[in-house]
Amino acid sequence: MKSLVAANWKMHKTLKETEDYLRRLLELVPPDPPVELAVFPPFTALARAGELLLGSPIALGAQNGHPEREGAFTGEVSMYQLADLGVRYVICGHSERRKIFGETDEFVAKKVRAAWNYGLTPILCVGETLVERRAGRAWEVVEKQLSLALGDGLFGPLVIAYEPVWAIGTGVPAHPQDAQEMAQRIRAWLCGRFGKLGEGVRIQYGGSVKPENAHEFLKLPEIQGALVGGASLDPQSFWAIALAAA
Ligand code: PGA
Repeated sequence: MKSLVAANWKMHKTLKETEDYLRRLLELVPPDPPVELAVFPPFTALARAGELLLGSPIALGAQNGHPEREGAFTGEVSMYQLADLGVRYVICGHSERRKIFGETDEFVAKKVRAAWNYGLTPILCVGETLVERRAGRAWEVVEKQLSLALGDGLFGPLVIAYEPVWAIGTGVPAHPQDAQEMAQRIRAWLCGRFGKLGEGVRIQYGGSVKPENAHEFLKLPEIQGALVGGASLDPQSFWAIALAAA
């Protein structure tokens, strides 16, 4: 199973900055890279990014998507519209969406199902807060997020990003041992629920991944990639992280 290293740009980059980034990244990445790469630009740059990445080994991802196909949802972009642009991956349930935009587990579940409906691969983000970890409730929280998002079944390809909330954007990553332990529990849960299908799910680690620490996570047997925020904003740094997964 090839690792998936994903660049979540969040609310960063203009159209021009997107073009410059992708041109530089395409110079770095060989035609058949040892890991799978995906870039998640803001919606304003998605179509242009799709054009630039066409025929390249780098997949296009979206940071969010609405589960309804179309309708009166001012300001939203649907999974159906994303699929139309050639998007392959869509992030569902990122902790920033859960916390800042009040997304519930139920809504995340709808997004995951809609992604499959339109042929996209959801990257389902799960993770506990620091208070929850200190209270010894990390697995309880993650297990609940998993079962509410995937309760109905596994109906398509899936990536799970384990992102402890306290590690995101803080410069303080999880301890690799803790990430490994959580990934093992996630895998056991997936296989317990979905049998063989659970084995095909890639589990990423996310939260303050940088070129300097990427190898610590990407060498772990249960981790098949990374979801990278801040350190993915520079193509050189993103590619260095991807190489650590190779
Ligand atoms: P970070 O963000 O790498 O900046 O910590 C990760 C994420 O939010 O996916």
